[in-house]
Amino acid sequence: MIFPIVMYGDPVLRKRAEELKKDTDLKPLIQDMFETMHAANGIGLAAPQIGKAIRLFIVDGTSLNDEEEDMSTFKKAFINPTVLEEHGEEWEFEEGCLSIPNIRESVSRPEKLKIRYYDEEWNLKEEEYDGMKARIIQHEYDHIEGKLFIDYLSPLKKRMLKGKLNDISKGDVDTEYRIIAAKK
Ligand code: NI
Repeated sequence: MIFPIVMYGDPVLRKRAEELKKDTDLKPLIQDMFETMHAANGIGLAAPQIGKAIRLFIVDGTSLNDEEEDMSTFKKAFINPTVLEEHGEEWEFEEGCLSIPNIRESVSRPEKLKIRYYDEEWNLKEEEYDGMKARIIQHEYDHIEGKLFIDYLSPLKKRMLKGKLNDISKGDVDTEYRIIAAKK
């Protein structure tokens, strides 16, 4: 099932999402999230973006395989994740977000992180990521903390985007996927 994507301006994107109860069967939901993300050509999707304030996100970087990193196995779900540490040099990259269509802005983030999470079988994992993988995880992890990439922009940049963001919150934006706007 393909969900509509929640647009910027919806309060669900600003909540700290809730922990999931251990051993909940999330496989059907995760399957639907992958379907939703692929239909929108995304490389990451967090549960709040489909209106669910739960600590779950998915990533799929396998379409980025032509880059220097091996992304061929970077397709997974992160349940109840905690970023334990971030380190390394900060680097800039132009990020976008399915909930903030047609806006891309440069965001600076540390290059490495350590994360603890459950996989979809509820196995506890602790892993380190860097580069593009870390970047995707950081962006999605922010979503379950109620944070968006535009929060990192300068006040001037934010002011410049105000009109566009207002349009997005009303659903007045062109996308190739189904959306759900907070304000009509
Ligand atoms: Ni996003």
